[in-house]
Amino acid sequence: MKICVIGTGYVGLVGAAIFADWGNEVVGVDIDPKKLKMIESGEMPIYEPGLSEVVLANMKAGRLSFTTSLPRGMKDAEIIFICVGTPQNEITGAADLSAVWAVAREIGENLDGYKVIVTKSTVPVGTNERVKKIIRKYASKGKRFDVASNPEFLREGSSVEDMRETDRVVIGSDSKKALKIVRSLYEHLNTTIVETDLRSSEMIKYASNSFLATKISFINEMAQICERAGADVSEVSYGMGLDKRIGKYFLNAGIGYGGSCFPKDVAALYKTSTDQAYDFKLLRAVMEVNDRQKDYFMEKISGHFGKNLTGKTLACLGLAFKNNTDDIRESVSIEVVRTLRGNGARLKVFDPEAMENAQKVLGDEMIEYSEDIYETLKGADALCLLTEWKQFSQLDLDRVKKALNGKVIFDGRNLLDKEQVQKAGFTYYAIGKRTNGGDYKHFTGVSAILEDVSDE
Ligand SMILES: NC(=O)c1ccc[n+]([C@@H]2O[C@H](COP(=O)([O-])OP(=O)(O)OC[C@H]3O[C@@H](n4cnc5c(N)ncnc54)[C@H](O)[C@@H]3O)[C@@H](O)[C@H]2O)c1
Repeated sequence: MKICVIGTGYVGLVGAAIFADWGNEVVGVDIDPKKLKMIESGEMPIYEPGLSEVVLANMKAGRLSFTTSLPRGMKDAEIIFICVGTPQNEITGAADLSAVWAVAREIGENLDGYKVIVTKSTVPVGTNERVKKIIRKYASKGKRFDVASNPEFLREGSSVEDMRETDRVVIGSDSKKALKIVRSLYEHLNTTIVETDLRSSEMIKYASNSFLATKISFINEMAQICERAGADVSEVSYGMGLDKRIGKYFLNAGIGYGGSCFPKDVAALYKTSTDQAYDFKLLRAVMEVNDRQKDYFMEKISGHFGKNLTGKTLACLGLAFKNNTDDIRESVSIEVVRTLRGNGARLKVFDPEAMENAQKVLGDEMIEYSEDIYETLKGADALCLLTEWKQFSQLDLDRVKKALNGKVIFDGRNLLDKEQVQKAGFTYYAIGKRTNGGDYKHFTGVSAILEDVSDE
């Protein structure tokens, strides 16, 4: 099939490359010429494991090319995928759909024969119907087209693999012809293909992301109770996750979720609910809990050092919003670094992939960008673990001890083994567990129950 993919970011570039790898002829379109120049010269604008190989192989095979011209990119395409960004509007919380509307208009203006226009970007209910109206408005009379929704579920850090082996494909359309054409693209995959209407398809994406965010906020609430009551949230999460109805994923307590999807998608779904005069209370709580989690981590640091961190040097490992990516959009790790600096600390930071992106937003004031893990720790008063990179969970505690000045670790992702760390002589703070760093005197714990027993 001939395919045009508009927007070559995390979703569009991976999508274009994988569609080409499946034997299709794909043209990627982006308004950013620098990005396309990089790709064409063999350098990926984003870090994704396995992406470079699949892009370069398909470019070489002549199945994948790029252009900044939408009319040129869509000329012979049977399917056009819209993969542009839909960031959060800071004031209303709604998704900013200006890029989607702009693309829809340009598609309409250049429509030269029947095509299926498919939205892969995450868009609120009703968006595809408006896309259809815009295209109809700008297309010349008699030009035929259909629209379809095909939300993307890939995860940054494993997106190439995720697109190849997806749990499900969701396609929404009111046109049987469009459903059939989009379906034929995925039919060879060993997966369930859900065919539905436009609005349900759009809603499936928001419901999925919001549910995953809910799991994270749920376990973060559990962390609060566990720490107060003397239980260990990692043990609780492991025990819960073995239940197939619950599942072990997205049950790690920490400093909260971030990234370019969860915060904006939860906020957008909440906005959709209020637009329908409905207060989605659970989602409101999910957002509140997530915002609080970072402060809770900061309280552990100020509890140890005092709020004013002037004269202290903190080593921070992890800047990306999650492991295996260079993406720092809405990264809680970046927010923590900013807050620590705001409280007067000097910082030494390291991330395996996100250093360049982080430096662009954080600048150099009070921050030293280190070459590797142990270089970061040298001379620091404490270590803060902020992103769940695998290598951070495998720290050599002897080397950490030698490098760090103060023997204090604040583990914002529960990456380390509590017993081992404490045995090695560190003062350890984690999320949702009692450690030698905590001061629990103000928690009543389970004393009420124990008192009842002693009274008998
Ligand atoms: N990143 C993820 O993990 C992920 C997963 C699933 C769904 N999504 C959704 O997919 C969409 C894209 O996300 P992303 O992370 O790939 O965004 P991104 O910011 O990485 O990429 C968007 C790209 O679109 C380009 N663009 C913007 N306006 C354009 C226009 N008028 N014409 C051509 N190109 C244009 C930008 O230059 C950019 O390269 C969003 O709606 C997002 O919510 C993202």
